[in-house]
Amino acid sequence: MTVKHDVKDLSLAAEGKKRIEWADKDMPVLAMVRERFAKEKPLAGYRMAACLHVTTETANLARTLQAGGAKLALCASNPLSTQDDNAASLVKDYGISVYAIKGEDRETYYRHMNIALDIKPNITMDDGADLVSLLHSSRKELADGVVASMEETTTGVIRLRAMEKDGILKFPVVAVNDAQCKHFFDNRYGTGQSTIDGVIRATDHLVAGKKVVVCGYGWCGKGVASRVRGLGASTIVTEIDPIRAIEATMDGFWVMPMSESAKVGDLFITVTGNIAVIRMEHFRQMKDNAVVCNSGHFNVELDLEALEKEAKKVRRGVREFVDEYTLKNGKRILVLGEGRLINLAAAHGHPASVMDMSFAVQALATEWSIKNRSKLSNKVHEVPKSVDEWVAALKLESMGISIDKLTSLQKKYLSSHDMGT
Ligand code: NAD
Ligand code: ADE
Repeated sequence: MTVKHDVKDLSLAAEGKKRIEWADKDMPVLAMVRERFAKEKPLAGYRMAACLHVTTETANLARTLQAGGAKLALCASNPLSTQDDNAASLVKDYGISVYAIKGEDRETYYRHMNIALDIKPNITMDDGADLVSLLHSSRKELADGVVASMEETTTGVIRLRAMEKDGILKFPVVAVNDAQCKHFFDNRYGTGQSTIDGVIRATDHLVAGKKVVVCGYGWCGKGVASRVRGLGASTIVTEIDPIRAIEATMDGFWVMPMSESAKVGDLFITVTGNIAVIRMEHFRQMKDNAVVCNSGHFNVELDLEALEKEAKKVRRGVREFVDEYTLKNGKRILVLGEGRLINLAAAHGHPASVMDMSFAVQALATEWSIKNRSKLSNKVHEVPKSVDEWVAALKLESMGISIDKLTSLQKKYLSSHDMGT
């Protein structure tokens, strides 16, 4: 019998399965976790609700949690990031309940999250804290049953820390994003590559010779800026943090305020995790046919409400994932992916090789929170260093790279204060 689900079309499953297996080849660390989980069943008896981008990489995480003994319900963490063939295969081939359809409207998006929560989860997993938000508002009757929640992204962790500060967090949360094996690689190299992939798939534009404005020089911004520069763009960074602005300058980028970069940019990419970073006053100054997109978590970085109101004409879908807004001054602004994360809306998100580390950390953090359930307070917890070190060591091994070990003399030297002069 088919498990409960709401996906686009189960007949897409065969294509999805091939792609899940393709991704799995690049996820050796997660596969090792899965093998052990299958033997030891550390998640047996636990019900999990996961709200993640429903990609082939997430499929391999879901298989790992299932191998560990969890009963899982999966829904999307963004209305545009679901891969429908993959969702179909998870249901049909792997017996995992999925509630996600690419392009679902807001009402369906929330309905799907609510159905996933109907599993009455003991563990939740979020990319952006949406499940946790529901568990503290319209579904708060379920919060007492939650042992712990894992959070995948920077914006989610920021929201959860704000809840902790206000003393309202009802269960422990693990900041998976803050593990080094997550944000050092996923946010930087993953977002760097997949964001450009999304822009190119949506536009077919050449990057070389363009002026590209990257808003935010955090982990994601560093990745995006270095990759567009590598493709031959003159790259401009905007920031609000003076230290990050110096870093961008010393990394060789132009740094200027949005008001100045708006006049010169051909392509704008926001990755700040902030709201209204590109506003009407900026859109008005842009060149004709300027391309604007976002790769930060929520679709609030571009003030599209204002653009919608002020534009004298809007042509939706001039290409797939491209809407054209004509301003009163006659200039056209091309908005990609409705301002939603372009790497998952127009492309397939981060490559499997980098999600291997993020999702190995997710699975191990889940196991750790279950083992330590009696000790965890209702706060945001760090992933233990031992998890980071284990994942890093196995990733290196899978890449065929070995490194040096400290000699006993070196160990002594590094822990002493009387040697060396
Ligand atoms: P981060 O905190 O490392 O960096 C954000 C940077 O933006 C900071 O340097 C901050 O000073 C800067 N900033 C804030 N407001 C700004 C403004 N108005 N103008 C210019 N700069 C501003 O965060 P991060 O890890 O780089 O994540 C950024 C966003 O990307 C978050 O929303 C995160 O959840 C999301 N994210 C997306 C993906 C993806 O797949 N697209 C992957 C990882 C993270
Ligand atoms: N976030 C960014 N890329 C992703 C991917 N490929 N799968 C799941 N979540 C992601």
